[in-house]
Amino acid sequence: MLFRGWEASVDEPWPDVARVVDRVGGVHLVVTRHALVRQVLADPVTWRPDNALDAVTPIPVAALRVLTAHRFRLPPTLANNAGDTHPEIRAIVAEALHPDRVAAQRPWLTTLVRARVAGIAAELAAGRPVDLHARLAADLPLLALARLVELPDAPVGAVKDFARAALELFWAPLDAERQQSLAAEVGRFHAVLREFAGTGGGLAGRLRAAGHSPDVVVGALFFLLVAGQETTSQFLTLLLHRLTGEPGVRAGLRAGTVAVADVVEEGLRRDPPIVTWRRVAAVDTTLGGTPVPAGSSMLLWLARAGCDPAVVADPAGFRPGQRGSRRHLAFGAGAHRCVGAQLARLEAAVVVAEAAPLLDAVTVVRPPWCPDNLTFRMPDAFVVRRATTP
Ligand code: HEM
Repeated sequence: MLFRGWEASVDEPWPDVARVVDRVGGVHLVVTRHALVRQVLADPVTWRPDNALDAVTPIPVAALRVLTAHRFRLPPTLANNAGDTHPEIRAIVAEALHPDRVAAQRPWLTTLVRARVAGIAAELAAGRPVDLHARLAADLPLLALARLVELPDAPVGAVKDFARAALELFWAPLDAERQQSLAAEVGRFHAVLREFAGTGGGLAGRLRAAGHSPDVVVGALFFLLVAGQETTSQFLTLLLHRLTGEPGVRAGLRAGTVAVADVVEEGLRRDPPIVTWRRVAAVDTTLGGTPVPAGSSMLLWLARAGCDPAVVADPAGFRPGQRGSRRHLAFGAGAHRCVGAQLARLEAAVVVAEAAPLLDAVTVVRPPWCPDNLTFRMPDAFVVRRATTP
């Protein structure tokens, strides 16, 4: 069964392409092998991205009415856009996230993270428990994104609540009551985005100037505010948790024998925040010898593909720099490959470099808990305290 239990089932044998029914009755063909996941991602004509943002639990009329009241629409813009407009919209977004602009954030980010780490170290020394998710992961990606992309003036907490509500509304198994309240949360912020899309500068202004409709501008901002920060927050928390249990890797970082960049890549391979991603078969076809009828929902198990023994030497281990470590598909591949990969990597590298020493002296009070979700890990907290010396 899909959704929960990703960790455990990674070690079990799975067919290369398996038909599964999800928690809400949706049927998917789950693709597990690295080569097959890559094959699908590389061919957007046979395997279209149209269903990337479809709600896993169909949204009932009452919740749809709430969304409509806020003029909520998600036209094909980025991840779900197989049309002619995709390359141009993507190019405008990619320009805002250009590697040079991203690299220029490093000094600012390092100063910010260093100050936070110093504060956390003092609290740990005083014997207080610290939530590393709240202190080092939750808001940093949004603060970084806001330096690169002009965003509506909204409190960080409001954006985080909206983004997490969107991930739940579209990717979680839900009952009607919960859908209604999530629709209200998502719709409210969507209305803020719609207003900003009409007047905002920067990316919004460039999309407007290129002739894109207000719906497209809203769609791009919506996706960036969800995918462009919440994913990285999740990854930072999962990576810090992973590193807490890897004293050998931390010792290597300290000694300079393990590279920070290798830790980030192995983290993306082993603990990707996006566990699966969807495509839809455009025609009757086959994949790895399995017949695939047109219209099939293809669930690409990105996390599993990163643990394919055909690609990586020690799939279940955490060995930065090992053969195949960098060949993970955590950022997807092909025409829709993540535009924010550079930014996510920079943020993770700074956090690992600055915060790993903190982890030498801690024990875990509360590991991250991840809710039921088809695609996103969404850890809620990660609480540590100073280890007591025997
Ligand atoms: C660790 C953090 C992140 C992970 C794991 C991640 C992963 C992904 C994945 C799996 C896709 C779909 C790729 C495909 O269909 O082939 C994607 C698309 C995308 N991501 Fe990320 N992402 C992360 C961070 C970011 C950040 C920081 C930004 C921007 C600030 C961003 C912006 C985008 C955009 C705009 C797309 C759509 C690209 C397109 O359709 O052309 N992501 N990401």
